[in-house]
Amino acid sequence: MAGEHGASLRNCYNTKPVMQLTVSLRPANAKDCSMLWEWANNPMVRASAFKTDPIPLEDHTQWFEEKLRDPHCFIFIAENEEGIPVGQIRFDIEPDGRAVIDLHVAPRQGGRGYGTMLLKKGLERFSAETKTSCVYSCVKVGNDPSRKMFEKTGFALEEQKVVRGEKVYYFTFCRP
Ligand SMILES: CC(C)(COP(=O)(O)OP(=O)(O)OC[C@H]1O[C@@H](n2cnc3c(N)ncnc32)[C@H](O)[C@@H]1OP(=O)(O)O)[C@@H](O)C(=O)NCCC(=O)NCCS
Repeated sequence: MAGEHGASLRNCYNTKPVMQLTVSLRPANAKDCSMLWEWANNPMVRASAFKTDPIPLEDHTQWFEEKLRDPHCFIFIAENEEGIPVGQIRFDIEPDGRAVIDLHVAPRQGGRGYGTMLLKKGLERFSAETKTSCVYSCVKVGNDPSRKMFEKTGFALEEQKVVRGEKVYYFTFCRP
């Protein structure tokens, strides 16, 4: 499905790595279920979410199986040079055609540049595989690593607003 839209989106952001790190992306698969459950329950990840309670394994398993079947959902796992999984990024295409981004790095992998690389490479991959032209993410005010990551990757800070009772930065990225 790579086409003109994908190429346009790919050309709209800086793809230069911020550090001498490389990650490669692969689609998530059923074997990633328990790893992603552990990552999702990392306190740093829960704190960044709207629902901060720990996620039971049964709930996660059912949710993840549905996401893997959903043609509007794209989940990629980032692996470092040693093949160690270091993060995940998910794009959910919504009915209006925009996609919402969720991403996090693995426990103990923060602050190494992986999040920024994952976001850039995830955008490249997603734009190559879909015609989606606009993506967005809501970042809780106070989540500075996430805010910096979106700013560095060329996202526009549209506004600060309240979503589900939380003050958030609303970041968007659209092809021209
Ligand atoms: C947001 C997240 C993906 C960033 O990943 P990361 O690999 O730690 O980020 P990077 O190393 O690429 O750094 C991005 C920026 O945040 C800064 N940063 C990273 N960790 C930080 C910390 N603990 N405190 C303050 N700043 C931090 C970095 O210095 C960098 O800014 P700089 O370029 O000005 O130096 C990661 O913190 C995470 O998984 N958080 C929990 C989930 C989340 O918040 N997701 C985003 C909402 S969708």
